[in-house]
Amino acid sequence: MTRSDLGSACRILVDQGLCSAQGLEQRLSATLDMTNADYLVVEEDGAIVGVTLSVFDGFTSFVSYMGVDLGKERQQIGRQMIEELVRRTQARDGKNIVVASWLSAAGFYHAMEFRMPGAVFLVREV
Ligand SMILES: CC(C)(COP(=O)(O)OP(=O)(O)OC[C@H]1O[C@@H](n2cnc3c(N)ncnc32)[C@H](O)[C@@H]1OP(=O)(O)O)[C@@H](O)C(=O)NCCC(=O)NCCS
Repeated sequence: MTRSDLGSACRILVDQGLCSAQGLEQRLSATLDMTNADYLVVEEDGAIVGVTLSVFDGFTSFVSYMGVDLGKERQQIGRQMIEELVRRTQARDGKNIVVASWLSAAGFYHAMEFRMPGAVFLVREV
């Protein structure tokens, strides 16, 4: 993702109901250049159609948000982003990728070879 992609990436995340629009672009702009950030986009015919936000901590790539353009689901865009993230995580000598998924998207992650290891995902709002 480059700075010029920020507007489109934010629109996708908001349209899919993943993020609130308020302050989103500033948030991504402030973290985009972190060396451990893997912020991915997929471009089709000059338009951004997919976005993934992931951060690597030395072991694991943590995916917080991932979405494709409304109406563009099930066209292998999500798969492309996961495959790129796998390549990047391998290149960093990482161990695995962890996602925070909605139940409705769990089937997608299963199709991408993610498994549920029996762990519980706990969140504390701050
Ligand atoms: C979930 C999401 C990122 C998947 O991306 P996508 O481009 O639609 O998925 P793909 O086309 O790459 O799907 C790859 C495989 O997963 C399967 N799949 C995709 N979405 C699925 C779903 N919701 N349930 C079950 N299986 C699914 C597809 O059938 C496909 O299998 P195939 O290759 O054998 O045909 C996208 O649909 C999306 O943005 N959804 C709304 C937001 C969301 O739920 N984000 C994830 C939680 S943060």
